[in-house]
Amino acid sequence: MRYGLFSDVHSNLEAMTVVADALKNEGVQDYLCMGDLIGYYANPVETLDLIDSLKCWKTVLGNHDAGCIGKTDISKFSGPAADAIRWTQKQLKPHHFAMLNSLRYREEIGEIQLVHSSPFQSEEWHYLTKLEEIERNFRYFQGFICFFGHVHKPFIAEQKIDGTVKILDTMEATLDKDCRYIVNVGSVGQPRDGNPKTAYVVYDSDTKHIAIRRLDYDHETTAKKTLAAGLSEYLAHRLVTGK
Ligand SMILES: [Fe+2]
Ligand SMILES: [Fe+2]
Repeated sequence: MRYGLFSDVHSNLEAMTVVADALKNEGVQDYLCMGDLIGYYANPVETLDLIDSLKCWKTVLGNHDAGCIGKTDISKFSGPAADAIRWTQKQLKPHHFAMLNSLRYREEIGEIQLVHSSPFQSEEWHYLTKLEEIERNFRYFQGFICFFGHVHKPFIAEQKIDGTVKILDTMEATLDKDCRYIVNVGSVGQPRDGNPKTAYVVYDSDTKHIAIRRLDYDHETTAKKTLAAGLSEYLAHRLVTGK
């Protein structure tokens, strides 16, 4: 099965449109989404409708989605993030809330695990960035590979049969069937790895080939819409730097 995976769209319609078109051209058979569909940017309605049209096989709940439907306390969010959630709540229609309410913290498809933040305590929204934390998280899912989002920085972590873990120095690889993997699929709508290009992943579960791909999109338009909607200047600016 050839899967198209994406995450952390955050109501960035320009980026999601580019990724949806790219995934269609990649000939993927099913879409998987790691959450944070909304929050931050100015097109929640159009972005949710576009994602809905993809008929993703599985989508998991992100912390911004959870904040929007009252499952997570947004007082813990940064000021601009909380403001964007409150603004988003005013834009959405009942069917959008129903869509977000249908999402779960974890999904599993055979050897594939999906979470938004981390396999360990998925509902606590930990940030999985340190190697020792990644190592520990291999104990909290079964199967071959776990995909996640939340940190907005793509990487492939590999655990050898002896338990040692390393981050691969590549964004494209044929995975070793004797190893296990935790993969961050990056962010469609707000990359934070210093590269402003939007990110998505193509994974073939038969050949075990994975590719994290990056594409240009019109982030100037996204930034202009952010400011026009009265949302945060800081959130608009970080689209340019990708940080
Ligand atoms: Fe996010
Ligand atoms: Fe998140």
